[in-house]
Amino acid sequence: MLRIGLIDSGIGGFSILNAFLQIPFTQEAAFYYVADSGHLPYGLKSDEYIHQRMLSLTSFLQTQHIDALVVACNTATAVSAAKLRDQFPHLPIIGTEPAIKPAALATKSGHIAVAATQSTLNSERLNSLIQRFAQHCHVHKIIGTSWVELVESQKIMPTSNLKTLFPTLQVFDNYPIDQLVLGCTHFPFLTPALDRILPKSVSIIDPAASIVQECYNRLSYTFSNEEPHQSPENPHIEIVLYTTGNLEDFTAQSTLLFPGNYTLSIKKIKA
Ligand code: DGL
Repeated sequence: MLRIGLIDSGIGGFSILNAFLQIPFTQEAAFYYVADSGHLPYGLKSDEYIHQRMLSLTSFLQTQHIDALVVACNTATAVSAAKLRDQFPHLPIIGTEPAIKPAALATKSGHIAVAATQSTLNSERLNSLIQRFAQHCHVHKIIGTSWVELVESQKIMPTSNLKTLFPTLQVFDNYPIDQLVLGCTHFPFLTPALDRILPKSVSIIDPAASIVQECYNRLSYTFSNEEPHQSPENPHIEIVLYTTGNLEDFTAQSTLLFPGNYTLSIKKIKA
């Protein structure tokens, strides 16, 4: 049985968990997802604060015997993943990073935008990705603090959030940007609204599918149904959601999960 842990500051990491759930399983699996809702938003916290949270939540997830940890948060990946790997050397740790490289390869205009939290935008990690892969591009940074709030409050319908998104997207009026990198796991939930506002020529890049691929590669897990006879027909999938915040609010938010045939439980933890 495959056991995967995921951590985000809130429900943003559901965009990664949803990507896991959209691929047919070839064996039983359990997903243990921690939303650190009691400490949200990470994007405005210090690096040390975020790292301490990650240490404590990773230790908690280890008690669930996870095979791998997906840091389903760009902010936590940027400030804490390298240190976590040192501190948990036997645990495969997969991070989430803004997809600067694919955007830089795909752009025709040479203008790409990355939307992320303040902390991710300031991070050495992002700036080194830009140095390595996008030196030939103009990289426009969009601070998405208000975007995180929209998703956490589930205002994700295109019509309810245009007013909040418009001012942050003015840069698209001034430059011929053709790639928008979603550098925060909350943001894929805003894609319907972004699609409506942005020029049709803009491609929106969500890294979720490639993170799932990387996690499975690390675990040497074959998820394609190449050998269907060797796998149970409907492998049992279990999802356990934990929150450090308000249980009722979090339960309401869990409707953003991809619908499917799995056992779901939702719990509050002190960690
Ligand atoms: N979902 C998180 C990320 O990917 C950030 C949200 C927050 O500010 O807590 O960066």
